[in-house]
Amino acid sequence: MSAGAPPVLAARGVSLAFGTPPAARTILSDLAFEVPEREFVCIVGPSGCGKTTLLRVLAGLLPASAGEAHFQGRRVAAPQPDIAIIFQDYGRALLPWRTVAGNVALAFEARGIPKSEHAVRSAPLLAKMRLAEHADKFPAELSGGMQQRVQIARCLAQEPRVLLMDEPFGALDAITRQTLQDEFARLCESEHRTVLFVTHDLEEAIYLGDRVIALAANPGRIVEIIDVDLPRPRRQLETREDYRFLEYRHRLFQHLGHE
Ligand SMILES: Nc1ncnc2c1ncn2[C@@H]1O[C@H](COP(=O)(O)OP(=O)(O)OP(=O)(O)O)[C@@H](O)[C@H]1O
Ligand SMILES: [Mg+2]
Repeated sequence: MSAGAPPVLAARGVSLAFGTPPAARTILSDLAFEVPEREFVCIVGPSGCGKTTLLRVLAGLLPASAGEAHFQGRRVAAPQPDIAIIFQDYGRALLPWRTVAGNVALAFEARGIPKSEHAVRSAPLLAKMRLAEHADKFPAELSGGMQQRVQIARCLAQEPRVLLMDEPFGALDAITRQTLQDEFARLCESEHRTVLFVTHDLEEAIYLGDRVIALAANPGRIVEIIDVDLPRPRRQLETREDYRFLEYRHRLFQHLGHE
């Protein structure tokens, strides 16, 4: 980030309530944090603490009741192509009647890129996500991990400035999940991506993040922000056995418990 440039994403005193008084319920309370360019920031918190709601506010899908979401120094008032969201439910995120390449091409269509360029543009993305041999398959012919890689490829095809990810690996088995964690971390590092990654898995947050923001519930609020001082590339065994990893896990567990 150049000196003085605003953070890519920021929550400035964001609060959110659903319903109208006196029945209003505060879901998010005065959240303030920044996501600087090229950082991988994770958000952890128990189920129902408002993680998905927070992502929706930051993406411009839901207005804050108080405070503001900022993207590159400006208030976010509506969804924008520079902010991409990856959902947990990859099954519903993909169009079943389109092939892998066809799903990725959705992003090119949205950007007005001529059809003649789609194949040449999607090829390197599919190769990066190890989907090159599956370009002509339909989602139903793919494993869960492959479907999630298609969704990630489609988001990258959008060429967003920031990726918001909502428990993207939550529905996958442990081995597939670890493989995708490593592939995605490597990709983000080599492409200097800016990412805000939501998970309820403390270890996943520490493993992936440069920083971890811990939320507590009722109302959703920040209880701690941890700077993760662990070398990259991270490695499934060594990183998770590092004394610092265990110390962060201990600290987060004390806040959140019951994981
Ligand atoms: N549109 C809505 N109207 C009313 N309440 C809502 C709405 N959306 C979410 N909520 C409530 O807001 C709270 C936070 O929901 P949210 O989905 O953001 O939690 P979460 O942290 O993402 O949970 P999980 O880990 O289970 O995905 C929940 O109590 C939920 O019932
Ligand atoms: Mg959620």
